[in-house]
Amino acid sequence: MQKPFGVIFKLYIQLPILFSVLGVLYTRNNTFKPSNQYLAMSDTTQHPAHFGFGRVATQAEIDRLDIDIRPDGKGLPAGSGLAAKGKIIFDAKCVACHGTGGIGGPNGSLVTTTSQEKSKQTEKTIGNYWPYATTVFDYIRRAMPFNQPGSLTNEEVYHLTAYLLSANKLIDEKTVIDAKSLPKVIMPAQKLFVPDDRKGGPEVK
Ligand code: HEC
Repeated sequence: MQKPFGVIFKLYIQLPILFSVLGVLYTRNNTFKPSNQYLAMSDTTQHPAHFGFGRVATQAEIDRLDIDIRPDGKGLPAGSGLAAKGKIIFDAKCVACHGTGGIGGPNGSLVTTTSQEKSKQTEKTIGNYWPYATTVFDYIRRAMPFNQPGSLTNEEVYHLTAYLLSANKLIDEKTVIDAKSLPKVIMPAQKLFVPDDRKGGPEVK
């Protein structure tokens, strides 16, 4: 009885040691070895001047993202649009979600109707809710069509903007919409918005 017990006991001790040595050897050969650049940072508590990741964005990359348009029209690109041309694009790319003429689609009306104007519970649309016409261009260009944002050309966005403003009876259907005329369109809802001029002090409740 003594001898087999001794052998088993030795294996109990030796096998774990053997496996851990093998494990250490395996890990040493397979672990990610950080480059000197990162090792140099690992022993400092200081915030490094830079982390060594990424690169400076190119002007073309910045231009692609820097597309915001201010309420006064700053940022509007070259080009112009007409309601009649916008209707053709709208019927092809927008009507499925926003309804014929921009009324009553599954994703919401964009155009105010006279029946809506009369009822108290109005659906918010460009005509009765948006304070700036320039936002129509900005929003369509960056977000629509919902299933393919960014796919429209500036010219197409101008046509669509002209169409939606005309359908909301905010411009005449012959009005040419461009960087000059768009900021001048008066939106009925603008007077309903109150500029928030609080300073962030005790007057803020
Ligand atoms: C696949 C469906 C779909 C298509 C196609 C689509 N839209 Fe939209 N649209 C939406 C959805 C959904 C919203 C609401 C998005 C949100 O609130 O974030 C929206 C919102 C809008 C709004 C803002 C409405 C508001 O008053 O808040 C405008 C303007 C608009 N779409 C214009 C267009 C135009 C122009 C096209 C065609 C070029 C288009 N959409 C195509 C789904 C769609």
